[in-house]
Amino acid sequence: MKKKVCITNQIPEIGIRLLKEKYHVEICQKGAVDETFLSQIRNCDAIVSLLSDKIDENIFSVAPKLKIVANYAVGYNNIDLNAAKKYKIMVTNTPGVLTHATAEIAFALMISLTRRIIEADKLTRAGHFTGWEPMLLLGDELNGKTMGIVGMGRIGQSMAIKCRAFGMNIIYHNRTPLDENTEKALEAAYCSFDELLQQSDVISLHTPSTRETFHLINEAAFKKMKTGVYLINTSRGEVIDEAALVSALRSGKVKGAGLDVYEFEPEITHELFSMENVILLPHIGSATTEARNKMSEMVARNVIAALEGKNPENLVPELEADG
Ligand code: GLV
Ligand code: GLV
Repeated sequence: MKKKVCITNQIPEIGIRLLKEKYHVEICQKGAVDETFLSQIRNCDAIVSLLSDKIDENIFSVAPKLKIVANYAVGYNNIDLNAAKKYKIMVTNTPGVLTHATAEIAFALMISLTRRIIEADKLTRAGHFTGWEPMLLLGDELNGKTMGIVGMGRIGQSMAIKCRAFGMNIIYHNRTPLDENTEKALEAAYCSFDELLQQSDVISLHTPSTRETFHLINEAAFKKMKTGVYLINTSRGEVIDEAALVSALRSGKVKGAGLDVYEFEPEITHELFSMENVILLPHIGSATTEARNKMSEMVARNVIAALEGKNPENLVPELEADG
């Protein structure tokens, strides 16, 4: 009998095609009410999950044949890794292939905020452009400003390169500093988290969501920032205390925020909707055709490796040792 793979939503064809060559593939939507989903995964060998699917013991305990959960995302905070370990289930992600897409959206948020692109477009469409004006929609220049990157993995580094090209000085904070050669190549200087908060004109977040990064940007952190700082988040919503952000925007401490992710996703703190100096995107960091096709192929290859008894290439770091 063919092995069964459940994919929790439609993903680009390329990966589905690879999986269908070998397995029975079902798209089984994981909705709010899980009964149908739970019955669909009862006899499946692999699950391809989204970052919005909570995958934990409830799932593992009803799927005795399950070998692998291949997350269609680089982040995997939606998966209970301790439970996966307990049930000896492999977990993979899709690192590397969405690096540029995500850094590009972070950059887009930054320049859209500092040059007020969304406001300007709205004004023009509303028919309020009545001719060139000396004081219309003045923004802030990036050239010569300091970009503080929190989390200097692949995406943070890609963001650093783009910001350097725009004449920004780069400082960063990371659990471990980069090696000297990489630092030199990026022209980025390591600093403590507090120094980063104090010195940055723009702060961009590129950390995973972990216990350590939960509410990393909270009231205390905002207090240390320069007045008029811009904040960009394309990582995970939980890294920012959204209520504290609203206060910091209201007080003018934060001049603008560009958000692709939210603390209570898909819910968004409603005060943010009415703020002109905030840009709200619907978690589209990796939403390029290039990235999504590669992610689709990658999850398929991870599933195939696992079901053929091999070690998938993209086991999440925490499970690599004994996965
Ligand atoms: C997107 O947020 C991802 O983790 O892939
Ligand atoms: C993570 O930092 C990635 O770029 O995949």
